[in-house]
Amino acid sequence: MAEGSDKARTQGGLKSEFPASPPESGTIANANERADLVDLDADGPGPDADFLAGELRKRVVGQDEAVEQVAAFYQQSQAGLSPPDRPVGSFLFLGPTGSGKTRTVEALAEVLAKNPRAVIKIDCGEFQHSHEIAKLIGSPPGYLGHRETRPLLSQEALNQYHTDKLKLSFVLFDEIEKASDSLWNLLLGILDKANLTLGDNRRVDFSRAMIFMTSNLGAEEMKNLVKKKIGFYQESFSPEQLAQKMETSAVAAARRKFTPEFMNRIDKTIVFKPLGNDELRKILDIELDYVQQRIDTSGKQVSVSVTSGAKDQILREAAPDIKYGARELKRVVEQQVTKKLGGLIAKNLLDRGDAVTIDYKDGRFTFSKPQYPGFSAQNRPLAAPG
Ligand SMILES: Nc1ncnc2c1ncn2[C@@H]1O[C@H](COP(=O)(O)OP(=O)(O)O)[C@@H](O)[C@H]1O
Ligand SMILES: [Mg+2]
Repeated sequence: MAEGSDKARTQGGLKSEFPASPPESGTIANANERADLVDLDADGPGPDADFLAGELRKRVVGQDEAVEQVAAFYQQSQAGLSPPDRPVGSFLFLGPTGSGKTRTVEALAEVLAKNPRAVIKIDCGEFQHSHEIAKLIGSPPGYLGHRETRPLLSQEALNQYHTDKLKLSFVLFDEIEKASDSLWNLLLGILDKANLTLGDNRRVDFSRAMIFMTSNLGAEEMKNLVKKKIGFYQESFSPEQLAQKMETSAVAAARRKFTPEFMNRIDKTIVFKPLGNDELRKILDIELDYVQQRIDTSGKQVSVSVTSGAKDQILREAAPDIKYGARELKRVVEQQVTKKLGGLIAKNLLDRGDAVTIDYKDGRFTFSKPQYPGFSAQNRPLAAPG
């Protein structure tokens, strides 16, 4: 707080010495006002859009537009410039399965709320009937089970991950094309007025929430475009043209399926791109880092390196089906790396300080570590506290 106001004074002071200086980008200055009257929001400094975008890019590969747009809306909210009676931002994420739509929201929560699970996730397909909608908003007083139902979308639920520094909620409606009519109505109210009325008439305020909606609509058309590119039309599209065509066809599919009423209330529609080999390789490195992090937090003090031959094989096993994007990659890493390392640990074959190398030879993954004569597992137990 004190720090922020000092900063504000310094900046104000500086500007007042140069009253003719043009407004900084991102500020709207009234030409008649002197710059030293500008009041800076000291409560919500947070990381700026560049920092956030950088952190998101470390986690989400190849989806720059999504990263930049989300960061821009965050910055706007931190600057206090979001419209007061609307959510901080509402995004429709289109594009193929396993391209990072859900991951982007988790990464945002991870960076800003320090917890990838700080997301309220609604799988729209699970809320088809009115008794299921009651799980979201509770049932009216007097109804059976009224007291037992704790609505998923209550104000407490929304605010549960708020901290002193960050009063922002992340709400994800997954696969909205499966939403029932009553869920649509609820969603429209949230998007339009940042408001939801619960079964017992309490109101929930969504003006401090970012709303994400995902849909695989148009993914089929996108895949066909990729196939065309590989086959007959190979020469005719540049990668940029292809990306443009895909975007157009995904947005057109969304416009066919969703009402204009809905489309007009969304701040940004973003089409996620199908992931290519280079992107999948980067994602593999990220996934392997996570494996190492898990080992580190377990206190095992074992380091793992994976040869490029082994990485190639993981990619081969994961990639024959582009249908599932990077989803398969995660599964193959789990199966070929994490599980097997777990087995080695369970069998006490790894000691503290060991460096394991994973390679792929003669049709199988191999795990090896250097042997130091004179040391035995007994005097360097793996499970000893760090
Ligand atoms: N662009 C990406 N960058 C990093 N990881 C990704 C990306 N796309 C997919 N993944 C990986 O694949 C998993 C599934 O992706 P997800 O975001 O759930 O796909 P969807 O687009 O269907 O929501 C993620 O948890 C992550 O491990
Ligand atoms: Mg998803």
